[in-house]
Amino acid sequence: MDRIRITGGNQLSGEVRIAGAKNAALALMPATLLTDAPLTLTNVPRLSDIKTTNELLGSLGTEIASLSDATVMVLSSKELTSYRADYDIVRKMRASILVLGPLLARKGIAEVSLPGGCAIGARPVDIHLQVIEALGATYELVDGYIHAEAPKGGLIGGNYEFPFVSVGATETALLSAVLANGTSVFSNAACEPEITDLAEMLNKMGAKITGLGTSTLTIEGVKSLHGATHAVVMDRIELGSYMIAPAMIGGDVFFPDARIDLIGAFVEKLTEAGIDVKEENGGLRVKASGKNIKPLDVRTDPFPGFPTDLQAQLMALLCLADGASTCEETIFENRFMHAPELARMGAKIDVEGNVATIHGVDTLRGAPVMATDLRASFSLILAALRAEGETIIRRVYHLDRGYEQVVRKLRGIGAEIVRENDE
Ligand code: UD1
Repeated sequence: MDRIRITGGNQLSGEVRIAGAKNAALALMPATLLTDAPLTLTNVPRLSDIKTTNELLGSLGTEIASLSDATVMVLSSKELTSYRADYDIVRKMRASILVLGPLLARKGIAEVSLPGGCAIGARPVDIHLQVIEALGATYELVDGYIHAEAPKGGLIGGNYEFPFVSVGATETALLSAVLANGTSVFSNAACEPEITDLAEMLNKMGAKITGLGTSTLTIEGVKSLHGATHAVVMDRIELGSYMIAPAMIGGDVFFPDARIDLIGAFVEKLTEAGIDVKEENGGLRVKASGKNIKPLDVRTDPFPGFPTDLQAQLMALLCLADGASTCEETIFENRFMHAPELARMGAKIDVEGNVATIHGVDTLRGAPVMATDLRASFSLILAALRAEGETIIRRVYHLDRGYEQVVRKLRGIGAEIVRENDE
């Protein structure tokens, strides 16, 4: 198993190129199941979750060609040979549930394993199931699998109000209703940029979706979809994660093509902490001294609020603020597993229920730590970059799910970081 070794303290300067969004790609790729024509995706991030999705789609009959160093992908689902998403693949990645809607829409039948437990809370799929029911499907839970069937003539347009915002279930809604007979209206839908990206691509494929970027999505079902070429939207979470590095350690880093509209609430918080963030030459520049970081009160919320996927990384910054900060997590239960690991490096964090209070300290010290989930692993990297001495981070496979070439990108701006094999 690999580990990452970091020697902290280097100021960071230069440029970091951000990849396409993992969370967008994981919803865009299953759209191939909706058409027999080829679908071309560009700006695909090179991540293990993408490989898992390839494996999943391949098991259903999709043929996939990777070009341009795997950042371009041509997916072709001429004939689907299976409608069963196996536990062995689904357990690796919860987003596998996103094949449920397209399989029902195209084949009228789907068997998808229930995703197993997850490190960041219970994360059920009940809302996905309510969505397909609203479109006329029926389902049973048998031996850990969802067995779902569409009505004889196919899914039927329906109305559904989400009881709370769910990114994945909104994606299931789009991926099912595009081929339904009639019109569907989904209210209280998620409006994350990744949802808009999916809706834009489906419209390029011939779907009729309106209300993009709002919480009400109206989908007029069409008989069939055709192929399209689509560039995956920039990964706003990768962007935010890297923006914290110069903010915390000090330096001057430019992010070409970075869009502030994808991450407005996050930039507001960085600015409130005293970090200089500027729009420049079509990108964003972060300049900071790594000193006099102001404490913050942060609450995670659905888009356009502060993203839960940046909570752990911002907490690393707040460990060094001049005073006490609070982070309230409202999306997931049990999403503070990075707190005890940060404490091993000298951070002072009290967790009570869904609120963490972070008492700023002057220095962090390098220590052996363990990545507990994808975003938590980056918070440890940030802390290590700032810490005195050496940090070794284990279980870096979490990192590989969502951050491509992290060692190369951080070295490129002056960090002392290596990846080693444990064996
Ligand atoms: C997606 C993102 C994830 C991000 C999250 C919130 C992907 C692949 N992952 O996850 O990185 O942290 O959005 O922005 O895009 N819930 C239910 N029943 C359901 C579905 C969800 O109770 O059927 C709950 C979840 O447990 C959670 C909340 O709803 O507490 C929001 O989850 P959701 O927005 O669905 O997250 P994901 O789509 O799983």
